[in-house]
Amino acid sequence: MKKIIITLDGYSSCGKSTLAKQMARALNYVFIDSGAMYRAITLYFIAHAIDYTNDSAVQEALKQINLAFDYNISSGSSDILLNGRNVENEIREMRVSNLVSDVAANQYVREFGVAQQQQMGLQKGIVMDGRDIGTTVFPNAELKIFVTADPAIRVARRYLELSAKNPGISKEEVQANLAMRDEIDSTREFSPLRKADDAVVLDNSHLTREEQLKTALQWVNDKINSLAVL
Ligand code: DC
Repeated sequence: MKKIIITLDGYSSCGKSTLAKQMARALNYVFIDSGAMYRAITLYFIAHAIDYTNDSAVQEALKQINLAFDYNISSGSSDILLNGRNVENEIREMRVSNLVSDVAANQYVREFGVAQQQQMGLQKGIVMDGRDIGTTVFPNAELKIFVTADPAIRVARRYLELSAKNPGISKEEVQANLAMRDEIDSTREFSPLRKADDAVVLDNSHLTREEQLKTALQWVNDKINSLAVL
């Protein structure tokens, strides 16, 4: 069966990674969490006190960063490695979430991330989620999905997920973080978050995981069938 590139973009915490993982598993594709790459860069910047507003410091720091993904059998998806160290859990901490959108808005950080993501798509058979995947990273992707969900539902889902690991966290803190990231991600100068003109919208506010997967896989099938008759 013909392999394609599938992009999933959308605001923070609307279930993009969950859907991307489900799709990759069902299709036997590679799943790439592009947000994890920006989070790992942010973790490096925190650890080495790199000022993300200082372009020459950013450029020097990026030369020291090696990102890779390592398949984790127990979770069934890939963990991110920062200079060979598995940082999959650390990058989800609030100290990273609070800074990642600012770091990801830096022009050199974006060039670094986009170039590596484009390399990963050369073989096709990939599902990548993020903010600018359908617009900047893979503007020619065969299937682009823009995922949305009601803001209150996104906060509730995210709070449930985070409070299990961070008992002290409040719903207000989660809400403020999502609102801040959405604002920075969609208003930044370099590849801001926006729906690609040719993306299909998937609002999963009231869909179960099974329902959203079924809808998305139907789109994949339709797309591959339409390419076959061309
Ligand atoms: O998907 P996520 O919430 O883990 O992403 C973390 C941050 O990384 C997000 O707030 C913005 C940034 N990001 C980006 O700028 N471009 C991407 N393709 C993916 C994420």
